[in-house]
Amino acid sequence: MANVDSELIDAIHRDQLADIDHPEAKAVCRAIGLRVADEVANVIAVLEAEGIAAAVAGDPSASVQRHSATLQLADADQAIAAARALAALGYRPWEQIDGPAESVLRHFRHTLTIARADDVTMVVDLRWPPTRIGDRLPAVLIPNENDYRAVAFPRSLWPLYLLVRPLRLVMEKLGLRPASGQALGPFLSTPTDLIGPLLDLADVDADDTLVDLGCGDARILRHAVAERGCRGIGVESDPFLVTEARRLVTREGLDNRIVIIEGDANADRLPTDAIEGSVFFLFVPAYSVPPVAARVLAQARPGSRLIIHEQHPLPELAPGIEMVSVPLLSGQGVTVAHRLDVPAPVTTAADRDP
Ligand SMILES: C[S@@+](CC[C@H](N)C(=O)[O-])C[C@H]1O[C@@H](n2cnc3c(N)ncnc32)[C@H](O)[C@@H]1O
Repeated sequence: MANVDSELIDAIHRDQLADIDHPEAKAVCRAIGLRVADEVANVIAVLEAEGIAAAVAGDPSASVQRHSATLQLADADQAIAAARALAALGYRPWEQIDGPAESVLRHFRHTLTIARADDVTMVVDLRWPPTRIGDRLPAVLIPNENDYRAVAFPRSLWPLYLLVRPLRLVMEKLGLRPASGQALGPFLSTPTDLIGPLLDLADVDADDTLVDLGCGDARILRHAVAERGCRGIGVESDPFLVTEARRLVTREGLDNRIVIIEGDANADRLPTDAIEGSVFFLFVPAYSVPPVAARVLAQARPGSRLIIHEQHPLPELAPGIEMVSVPLLSGQGVTVAHRLDVPAPVTTAADRDP
């Protein structure tokens, strides 16, 4: 069993799940491939109706583990128009596309990512040929929402953001202004039917308080509270998602059991209420995991559990703390789930015998 698990984990990490001799894995990959093909056809039909020509770029079956596709468009204007048209199907851009952001996209970028979070999240990269200057400017110098949020210039003054960005980054580095939130990555929801197995791995029951650090639309919390009778605390930095999470919590009558905190889950200290949690849930890009995991392991109560899931390998998070890793496959997706238990503080002979 352990060997089958490690073979599956390795295949997921290499994005080659479809290639191993495992009937369930093949079936899951087939289901994902079919869903992506259907969705791409819907997207292209909406764009055609709007007079926007888009072609599937690259090898559409390059990843059969992820609900993702890349579309090639003529230029940034077409990509922005496509992003707006696809709001009709529930897609949201991962970044601002209005005001000064529109000019920045036009001059410096060649990809805009949009996503729709349903039972599964479908991610679509809208791509266009880069401009000469955009091709040469290092990505780190291209302004983004943190810069637009730092200073609000009218749209016509958008080039000033090329100065705001380095200035802001230097000031944050020197501690002269608080670091910008959102550092943990964009909204990519956990597929609905993976939530139960993730909660099982954490042994979530009615006595628990589950904390989702970067809770998105609070789907993990809403599911856990409704199914397991626990309490939930969500921390989310995107105001749109905070409003959406609170709306869904209220709609499902869970206001007395779930609190959504608008805040930074990447701050040096976990939010005060969240520290009381007994299970911590983390689904953010693998590169964002180590500092947050380290804080949970250092600040949460002993005996709390930390659950993380990823399709990419994680570095060692805490030498000396066992990390249990299991592959999870469902009709809607695949992931590798990890559990770490917060250890009791080390008691020395001096503590026992003053
Ligand atoms: C990959 S999504 C996971 C959503 C949800 N936990 C789930 O599994 O469905 C990561 C979430 O973290 C949020 N996020 C990113 N940086 C953050 C930060 N510094 N503080 C709080 N939330 C953050 C994003 O807005 C997004 O909703």
